[in-house]
Amino acid sequence: MTTHFLALETSCDETAAAVFTDELRVLSSVVASQNDLHVRFGGVVPEIASRAHLRNLLPVIDEALRRANRRLADIDCVAVHNTPGLVGALLMGVTAAKALAFALGVPLVAVNHVASHIYACRIAAGRDIFPCVGLVISGGHTALFRCDSPLSLALLGTTRDDAAGEAFDKVAAILGLGFPGGPALEREGRSGDPKAFAFPRSFLDTPQLEFSFSGLKTAVLYACHGQGVSKMTPPPAGRRRADLAASFQEAVVDVLAGKCRQALQQTCLKRLAVGGGVSANGRLREKLLALDAEVFIPPMDLCTDNAAMAALAVEKWKLGDFAAPELDAQPNFL
Ligand code: KG4
Ligand code: ZN
Repeated sequence: MTTHFLALETSCDETAAAVFTDELRVLSSVVASQNDLHVRFGGVVPEIASRAHLRNLLPVIDEALRRANRRLADIDCVAVHNTPGLVGALLMGVTAAKALAFALGVPLVAVNHVASHIYACRIAAGRDIFPCVGLVISGGHTALFRCDSPLSLALLGTTRDDAAGEAFDKVAAILGLGFPGGPALEREGRSGDPKAFAFPRSFLDTPQLEFSFSGLKTAVLYACHGQGVSKMTPPPAGRRRADLAASFQEAVVDVLAGKCRQALQQTCLKRLAVGGGVSANGRLREKLLALDAEVFIPPMDLCTDNAAMAALAVEKWKLGDFAAPELDAQPNFL
C-alpha cells in the first residue's frame, strides 16, 4: 500500500508544501516566493518572512493537495524542515506541521533542510547516489559533506564568513543588480570577460576544505570604487560592469569546483551531489560536470528551496524515527 506524505518548508523566504509517496514519487510541489516583499530591503527581513509564511501556508498546502489530487484524509505522515534557518520562519512550518499531524492522527517527521538539499539529488536521479561527497551552496550555507547514507552526513568543511549565495547577493548589490543577486549577476556576466579582473580565490591552493568569500566581495568593491572611496554609487551598465560580474562569478566557481575536486580525492569517493540555490548557476554546473566523478545536480525547481526535497523524511519514516510533539525549531546549522 502506498504511503502519502505532506511536507512543509518555511526555513527562509519561500513558503512551500509538497505531496510525495514512500516510493519517492513527487505528486506536487508548490512554492510561494516572497521576493516581492523583501526586494526593497535588499535582503530577507526575518519578521516579514515569518508573517508572510503565516499568510501563505494554508493556501500553499491546499494547492499542493489539489495538484496532487489528494485530500488531507489521504495523508499518512507529515514532514517538516525544522532546522537550520530563521527561527521565526521555521516556527511557522513546525507549528503548522505539528497541528496537522496531531489533527490527522499521523506521525510527524522532522528533517534537516541542508541534508534535504543533498537528498534532492537522490529524488531527481531515481536511484541510489550514496556514498557521495555532498556540496550545499545556498544563501545561508556553503558546506562540503561526506555522505555515507541519506541520514549520515559528516561535515568536511564550511565557510569562515559569507556563504556562496550571500556573496552573489552582496556583490550584485554592489553592482546595482537587485535582489536576489545570483540570477541577476549570472545574467549580467554573460556578456562579460571572466578574465578581465584577477579576483582572489581563497584557500584554493591549500588542502583544507574551507571557504572564504568576504575577501572576494571586498576585492569587487575596491575594483568598483577604489580603496578608501566612500561613494557607493553602483557602476553604470556596460562592458566594465559585465566584466566585474563575470570575473567575480568565475572566482566563486573556481573555488567551489576546486574544493569539490579535493574533497573527492581526499575521501576517495566517486560521486558528487550538489544542492542549494547557487547550484542553479550555469557556469558552475558546467565546471562541476567536468570533474572526474559521477555528478548529480537536481533540476532548478529542486535546487532552490522547496518542500519536495523533504522526501528525505521517507528514510526516517522507514526507521520509525518520528518527532515528539515537543519538536522545536533549531536555527543553527546541524
Ligand atoms: O537554497 P536557496 O533557494 O535558499 C537558501 O536556503 O538560502 O538559495 C538562495 C541563494 C541566493 O543567495 C541566490 O542569490 C542564489 O541562491 N542563487 C544563485 C543563482 N540562483 C540562485 N546564485 C548564483 N547563480 C544563480 N543562477
Ligand atoms: Zn536552502
